[in-house]
Amino acid sequence: MKIIVGITGGIAAYKVPQLVRLLVKAGHEVQCVATAHALEFVTRLTLETVSGRPLYSDLFAPSNDHTTEHVSLKDWGDAMVVAPATANVIGKLAAGIGDDALSTLLLAFSRKPLLMAPAMNTQMWECPAVERNIAYLRSTGVEMVEPGTGALACGTEGKGRMAEPEEIVEALNHLLRPKEVMPLWGKRVLVTAGPTYERIDAVRFIGNYSSGKMGFAVAEALAAQGAEVELVTGPTQMVTTTAGIHRHDVECAREMLAEATRLFPSCVGAILTAAVADYRPEHTVDHKLKKQGDEGMTLRLVQNPDILATLGTMKQAGQTLVGFALETDNEETNARGKMERKNADYIVLNSLRDKGAGFGVETNRVTIMSREGEAYKSALMSKREVADLIVERCLLK
Ligand code: C5P
Repeated sequence: MKIIVGITGGIAAYKVPQLVRLLVKAGHEVQCVATAHALEFVTRLTLETVSGRPLYSDLFAPSNDHTTEHVSLKDWGDAMVVAPATANVIGKLAAGIGDDALSTLLLAFSRKPLLMAPAMNTQMWECPAVERNIAYLRSTGVEMVEPGTGALACGTEGKGRMAEPEEIVEALNHLLRPKEVMPLWGKRVLVTAGPTYERIDAVRFIGNYSSGKMGFAVAEALAAQGAEVELVTGPTQMVTTTAGIHRHDVECAREMLAEATRLFPSCVGAILTAAVADYRPEHTVDHKLKKQGDEGMTLRLVQNPDILATLGTMKQAGQTLVGFALETDNEETNARGKMERKNADYIVLNSLRDKGAGFGVETNRVTIMSREGEAYKSALMSKREVADLIVERCLLK
């Protein structure tokens, strides 16, 4: 294949010749594109020697074959890797800025497979603006091979080291797998996500703190395996533009039930991560309720339908049903009871005892319990990694 390797100005640029050699050895043609800062860390001669092609680094160089090299290279390349990817190039792409050879090429390349290997100091990696840019690029389909943890060039220890060239090659191979060999290619999977809002009056509702992060991560993990994802989500700030994820916005449990039961029959499975309100106000009013006297007010609640249990009654042979459970005591026994009662095949157990797990946070630690009696305990990892694990253990077995 034809691979474009973009290099930006970080110390890890010294490892890029090794990356290029590995790609060439694997039979790829490689075109290097470097920023001016990258060439402070690795020389033009080295990159041209290992790739066997002239380096592209100057938008306006007289030696360029075409005056619009960034467009012709976009057509030439099958995939692109940016390694190391500094906070700067990540920010420029997220903002749609093209002010040099590499950033203009990245904008032109936006519909083709792109992998980035970020590398920066830990504080920069944790800067909210950088986190936002990375999350945004991921949501548009850019793959990230996460930096490792260890000694950094600035003399500190922490997360931020560029992934090793071998890991980058592996991530690229994953990105370039032919779609037809993706295990969930052409299969439809239902996911519920986020909270539900149960309306009290024109301006008030009963809700919960679910952010939708886990459900959206599950949707992304399924799409990465080629699935068509029907994502039924309650109100959330989350965004996704991933091809293959079809979003259905709902507000309350009954709307979520209606969408889920409509979509489930055409699906090979469902992963229900939504934090559905167990109860809703018995009556809702269209106007704003007025304050009445000093003696307080009583709101009568009635039970909401259980979506997981309903899908459990609809489930046919060949369909896999995965529920979540958040338990505070007798966790595994309660989760197992839930699996039986609701006719689920797996229950993913979140424990509130775990720091770093649960609502709103970026990480999670889960136990995946199966009908066969297995209980697989994960490490504390990012929600996306947990999502990959759930997909692998529940739908790819
Ligand atoms: O019974 P509990 O609420 O703990 O069950 C959690 C699981 O059931 C989750 O997968 C959740 O999405 C699902 N659920 C549901 N409908 C409800 C309540 C929970 O689908 N009304």
